[in-house]
Amino acid sequence: MRPFLKWPGGKYRIIDRIRAKLPMGRRLIEPFVGSGAVFLNVDYDAYLLSDINEDLIHVYKTLQEHGEAFISACERLFTEENNTSERYYELRTEFNETTDVWRKSVLFLYLGRHGYNGLIRYNKDGGYNVPFGRYRRPYFPEKEMRFFAERSKSARFVCQDFRHVMEQAKSGDVVYCDPPYVPLSSTANFTDYAAGGFGPKDQQDLADLAASLGEQGIPVLISNHQSEFTEAAYRLAQVERFDVQRFISCDGRNRNTAKEVLALFGAVPE
Ligand SMILES: C[S@@+](CC[C@H](N)C(=O)[O-])C[C@H]1O[C@@H](n2cnc3c(N)ncnc32)[C@H](O)[C@@H]1O
Repeated sequence: MRPFLKWPGGKYRIIDRIRAKLPMGRRLIEPFVGSGAVFLNVDYDAYLLSDINEDLIHVYKTLQEHGEAFISACERLFTEENNTSERYYELRTEFNETTDVWRKSVLFLYLGRHGYNGLIRYNKDGGYNVPFGRYRRPYFPEKEMRFFAERSKSARFVCQDFRHVMEQAKSGDVVYCDPPYVPLSSTANFTDYAAGGFGPKDQQDLADLAASLGEQGIPVLISNHQSEFTEAAYRLAQVERFDVQRFISCDGRNRNTAKEVLALFGAVPE
């Protein structure tokens, strides 16, 4: 099933590869859950799902708690009158000003489907600043939301930094990590999913934590771009490399050229 949110770096297109590499276990932990493409397409007894983007986690918790009532409230915003640039910017301003979690979550879903090119972007003060997308008729993901709501009955959602989430892993857990990509060149920007960014130290901490959990017998699978950095940082892992077509890229010249890696720490030797 496809996720109901468009999300930069979403892994729906490579779900089969990820599924094939994810070990079995009782609970799946995703410290970078994003749109939940992996959570929605695997089968564990329980899930611990986290992301640093608080707006995203509020949407998931609201859907989990209120189901149909939340889906209907979101659908009411998908009208022809609301699909104009004037209305989009009014609703975006409302989103940035409101502190009401329900309303903010309804607006987040509207903005994601009416905004430009599936981007998620915030300015340095934390204001959501994606421009209007000019889609003729934005799709309302009703069946995708229902599916997510049903699945979320066995999930716990938290908004925490990945380090904190990974520290909670225990025997029987499997961890899937999909961090923001390592930039392909020093000039490439990368997506600001939330104010703050994700730098080299974060990437290194993630690799270190994965190696340490792997040593304790808790498998950790990480996806990333292949780069000099990942080749060094994931040297203790079992690594698979493959080509993937990219749709969201800041640097048009890099389109289609990046290799992706899946690095499994703590794999049981064959
Ligand atoms: C590549 S996306 C994950 C996409 C997801 N696998 C999917 O299929 O939609 C990376 C995610 O990491 C989150 N993130 C960034 N920094 C983080 C941090 N320090 N701790 C936890 N999550 C973080 C972003 O908000 C974003 O949702």
